Amino acid sequence: MIEMSTFLILLFFISSNPNYDVEGSFTLRHLFIYFLTTSLFRRIYNAYLEACYFHFPKYRTQPEKEHLLIKKAKDLNGRDSKQLSLLVWHDLGTYLSTTALDLAVYYLIPGFYPPPNPLSPQTFPTRFLRLALNHLLMSFGMYWLHRSSHNVPLLWRVHAVHHWSKHPLSRNTYEDHWIDNLSNALVGHLCAQIILPLDLPTFALSHLLRIAESLE
Ligand SMILES: *[C@@H]1O[C@H](CO)[C@@H](O)[C@H](O)[C@H]1NC(C)=O
Repeated sequence: MIEMSTFLILLFFISSNPNYDVEGSFTLRHLFIYFLTTSLFRRIYNAYLEACYFHFPKYRTQPEKEHLLIKKAKDLNGRDSKQLSLLVWHDLGTYLSTTALDLAVYYLIPGFYPPPNPLSPQTFPTRFLRLALNHLLMSFGMYWLHRSSHNVPLLWRVHAVHHWSKHPLSRNTYEDHWIDNLSNALVGHLCAQIILPLDLPTFALSHLLRIAESLE
């Protein structure tokens, strides 16, 4: 939380200088808005989903007693304190590695982040089709990575961190090994946007849709 707020405040000030913007991409100020909105949306939508979950016990697929805190020294999802303290480090690793990735992509792949005023604007049907295909590509990459993570022993060692939570809630979605998170970013959004670029409004929509989908 503290690292993220510090970084966002820094980015806010740096982005007031257009010299740091990359030609052909959206501006650093857009990048700031992107970090801020995706992170707020993630928190708000997660709170909404869990509020629904706890309000309607009759529709739950997991027995209610699983989330009682009777099992000593375990959290709501069944993880012990050693696992929880490791997760704190993985969170930091995720934060540092994915922020570094996003910034590296901004400076190394001009045009990856779509410019606000493209030379040839896309029509609505094109946007819709591209969004659907881009989402398909992204799911394809992440599906196969996920499948292999359950079958290949080395990958499972990374992915097992995510399954420490025995009776999950939507908040556990991104509680994983930092390598798990980073590799999903690589085979998901990164590849899809390189293979089939989306323009700015569709790019934004695609990221929000993806957050909603993964939390659900
Ligand atoms: C990595 O985790 C962050 C939250 O810590 C999340 O916003 C992001 O979507 C995750 N990336 C992937 C590809 O799962």
